[in-house]
Amino acid sequence: MATPPRITVIGTGYLGATHAASMAELGFEVLGLDVVPEKVELLSRGEVPMYEPGLEDVLRRHVPGVEGSTGRLRFTTSFEEAGDFGDVHFLCVNTPQKHGEYACDMSYVDTAVSSLAPHLKRPALVVGKSTVPVGSAARLAALLREKAPAGAGAELAWNPEFLREGYAVKDTLHPDRIVVGVGSERAEALLREVYASAIADGTPFLVTDYPTAELVKVSANSFLATKISFINAMAEVCEAAGGDVARLAEALGYDDRIGPKFLRAGIGFGGGCLPKDIRAFMARAGELGADQALTFLREIDSINMRRRGQMVDMAREIVGGSFLGVRVGVLGAAFKPDSDDVRDSPALNVAGQIHLQGGQVTVYDPRGMDNAARLFPTLGYADSALEAVRGADVVLHLTEWREFRDLDPAALGEVAGRRVLLDGRNALDPDRWRKAGWTYRAMGRPGA
Ligand code: UDX
Repeated sequence: MATPPRITVIGTGYLGATHAASMAELGFEVLGLDVVPEKVELLSRGEVPMYEPGLEDVLRRHVPGVEGSTGRLRFTTSFEEAGDFGDVHFLCVNTPQKHGEYACDMSYVDTAVSSLAPHLKRPALVVGKSTVPVGSAARLAALLREKAPAGAGAELAWNPEFLREGYAVKDTLHPDRIVVGVGSERAEALLREVYASAIADGTPFLVTDYPTAELVKVSANSFLATKISFINAMAEVCEAAGGDVARLAEALGYDDRIGPKFLRAGIGFGGGCLPKDIRAFMARAGELGADQALTFLREIDSINMRRRGQMVDMAREIVGGSFLGVRVGVLGAAFKPDSDDVRDSPALNVAGQIHLQGGQVTVYDPRGMDNAARLFPTLGYADSALEAVRGADVVLHLTEWREFRDLDPAALGEVAGRRVLLDGRNALDPDRWRKAGWTYRAMGRPGA
């Protein structure tokens, strides 16, 4: 049997660290590369710079030096070493939103390809996983051919990643589909070998051209964003008409064609992907002359962004019209549960706005405290939900951690200044809180 391809992973952030560890878990020899030496040192010791359930365990099973590990997973800062080592090179660098623009910043991807290419001396496959504007793969394939000593032997494929934070390891080892945009049969065959175990488990494997593969990712995220903003728009209508958006979503979800997921109304979506991806998609469509096709995404974005302001308005109204001198307990800072990521977090945005309007805000999040404190050092932080609620005139539930669902409303009621709870995620049980004497209000639902 031929030796399995050796794999490198360029960029060891969220996506790359998870991908590298998962590839080692599947039995491959893996070399992860990052330009930040501290990250390489940390990962080499088997430590993960962010909170992601299960990732550290997988990493520690494979980095050398950890007792009982396979030693299959190493990290480096050297592109030369990566070029010598790998047969398949996964590009996992980030593509943030450009400062002051909607378009995405491709500089990390471009630099990664330009730095790797001169070291590709034998046939190799470079596989892009980063989320990029459609058209990038064709451009990068040409760049690779031009700069690699292997010439046409240095090929490119595009293989978008759909992992969700909080489920990154599971989503990588057991994806719901694998999409590969390829330029040759050789590239397809190599990727089938890399993903053999998922394919054997029955995971659909879709082979496409470059633009389709690139578009799958941004259109999937646009669809998800649309679904969330749709239900949030319905929440606004429910508020005006006296309806209950949670019951409405439940009823809609029984229709198979709609489905129940991503229909939870609240303060909307955030994080490092959905907001920037829909904006970059609009910008790219504009460049291609197809901007009209995506003008609806502008509305999706604005429905989403105004949710945050509506939450602030609702809180201000319930405390009597002004936050001055008002104590606000905030449960949640991460953009979603099971993550310590606070990038574009609706929860932290709401907490920050209330603080700027004179409220005394105290935040608690099970994992996101350090990142939140770095981003918003002027907010107050507490070590527990109970401490965040202590003395509060109003409590805001803004990230739906399981820990918050399991809270005892009676115990919290003992320490709260006033028993007033606003559920910005429609995730708590109104009856439990009301029975313990709380005024429970949620967006898009009638008060009681
Ligand atoms: C997303 C995509 O799901 C994933 O496939 C892609 O690879 C990266 O972007 P992620 O950013 O990890 O993943 O989070 P996701 O679970 O999609 O949630 C995004 C945001 O939507 C969160 O802020 C979440 O709180 C919010 N959301 C989700 C809602 O407001 N309502 C819902 O019903 C679902």
